[in-house]
Amino acid sequence: MIDLFAGCGGLSEGFRSTNLYRPMAAVEVDLFAAATYAANFGEDHVHYGDIADWVKGDLPDADVVVGGPPCQGFSNLGAKREDDERNELWERYVDTLVKVRPKAFLLENVDRFLRTRQFRELVSQFENNGELADYNYDVKVLKATDLGSPQLRRRAIVIGTRKDFDKIPIPSTEVSVAAWKTVKHALGDLEPRIPQGRVDLPKEREYSVFGRTVPGVYTAADLHITRNYTELSQQRFSAIPTGGNRFDLPEQLKAPCWKKHTTGSGDVMGRLVWSKPSVTIRTEFFKPEKGRYLHPDENRALSHLEAARLQGFPDNFKWCGTKLEIARQIGNAVPVELAAALARHIAACLRST
Ligand SMILES: C[S@@+](CC[C@H](N)C(=O)[O-])C[C@H]1O[C@@H](n2cnc3c(N)ncnc32)[C@H](O)[C@@H]1O
Repeated sequence: MIDLFAGCGGLSEGFRSTNLYRPMAAVEVDLFAAATYAANFGEDHVHYGDIADWVKGDLPDADVVVGGPPCQGFSNLGAKREDDERNELWERYVDTLVKVRPKAFLLENVDRFLRTRQFRELVSQFENNGELADYNYDVKVLKATDLGSPQLRRRAIVIGTRKDFDKIPIPSTEVSVAAWKTVKHALGDLEPRIPQGRVDLPKEREYSVFGRTVPGVYTAADLHITRNYTELSQQRFSAIPTGGNRFDLPEQLKAPCWKKHTTGSGDVMGRLVWSKPSVTIRTEFFKPEKGRYLHPDENRALSHLEAARLQGFPDNFKWCGTKLEIARQIGNAVPVELAAALARHIAACLRST
């Protein structure tokens, strides 16, 4: 497999965990994410740099190409600038497909991607004379919970298949809510209490990679860290019951802006529930004011370890970068279980042709 926009390697980890795939190349422009990737999958096949440069070179053979072209430009969150240059990164993805001609490819993105001009342009490439005319494709929005993840994350999935193979359909995956994995499955065995003041990654650890030095590597125990909260924050957290949110706060504990906004997101300052899946783990999961990130029992947000677990990363996964960088890598990743389920599905379909 080839992993484009590889990040820390959520997709690669899911594919590797099936024992059916081996990464032949990975491309990532962010030093800390590329370092994490290299620490886990080896430095030799990682291109740390811009995909636009990599795709011009000699590319290795691969059966499957995977990746999610960055989506900030058309995500529901943040600025929606139509001319955002990053939107055009999907074209580098297509350039890779044209050069490598894999048997199949997996492209994932936010669900809104399917309503963008970029998606329409991608789809037009499958028509006669298009760059992907020798591929079929299927597309659907999947819920990670339906594929074994304890997280309610929705992802738009496109699977393309070269026309000399039977078209691989997106798996139909609806499972009953009762079968969903929960926060308890992911975190139930972890020590919930984090000692007061355990807020930093271990200092003076260095990892040399790509001729550079980055903080790391860190594994599970290092990542079970919290933040120093103010007295007011702690009072607020303790007023929020399991499953509750900012609307449960008494007047005197509400922030002025929350008093004005009496409707809106029920996730702000929300508390997770042991018996349900988590909400989508985003890059700021350590800030309770950004979503439903309060621990089910403790008066704190999720630790980095808990967020990594909810994203499906094994405890022996190695992480590089600052606390903030690692949070970004975790939040940007594809849930490992979702990737693994799709990896098995693609392999089974290719084999049956
Ligand atoms: C959503 S993240 C990928 C997550 C990854 N699929 C996973 O499962 O862990 C997108 C990544 O694309 C990288 N990226 C953005 N622009 C790039 C470029 N021009 N070339 C290579 N990588 C790029 C970003 O640094 C980011 O790590």
